Amino acid sequence: MKLLVATHNQGKIREYRALLTGLPADLVFLTEIGIELPVLESGNSFQENAVIKARAYAQASGLLTLADDSGLEVDALGGEPGIHAARYAGPGASDVDRYRLLLHNLEGVPWEKRTARFHCVVAIAVPDGRLYTAEGCCEGIIAFAPRGEHGFGYDPVFYMPDYGCTMAELDPMVKNRVSHRARAVQAAWPLLEMLLKPQNRCLP
Ligand code: IMP
Repeated sequence: MKLLVATHNQGKIREYRALLTGLPADLVFLTEIGIELPVLESGNSFQENAVIKARAYAQASGLLTLADDSGLEVDALGGEPGIHAARYAGPGASDVDRYRLLLHNLEGVPWEKRTARFHCVVAIAVPDGRLYTAEGCCEGIIAFAPRGEHGFGYDPVFYMPDYGCTMAELDPMVKNRVSHRARAVQAAWPLLEMLLKPQNRCLP
């Protein structure tokens, strides 16, 4: 049975390929099935935006669909960038532009006040309207300067005290065990297994 992973973010695509290994599903991605539907993330929370995306792509594709909405909540910035993480430095900005702006906005903030967390909500939509969500968080501290080459997005400035390095310095296999996305997938795993059981396979 096919499971559509509805994201255009190459970093997320790489991680989902690894995170969903072992599920009895054929993973498919938006570009492979030619879906170019623009979906406006008009919700006020990770949960709302994940649901909007999963529903829209499940309806457009007729496939069991997983979408995630994720972002970085920085305590000293009142939870920003939060759901605006992807748009933080405006349209056309790169990952580097975004984390540089974040570091700029945190200038003068001491180490102990630089606490933050990555947050991910995974929504799973069945084209018949059934909908499930699961979430995961990962706590850390915003570093003073970027370090590391792995991962994507804000990983180079997200320091993980338990590992003594940034998320971008972690081996991707380790990130895929402990990240917000890994935890959301772990929480969603029983649901995915249930939906992929042979008796539930009324879908392509
Ligand atoms: P979304 O597509 O609206 O969910 O945007 C998520 C944005 O949050 C990404 O573009 C990144 O900037 C950031 N983000 C989400 N997950 C991660 C991660 O695992 N590492 C680093 N940045 C992330």
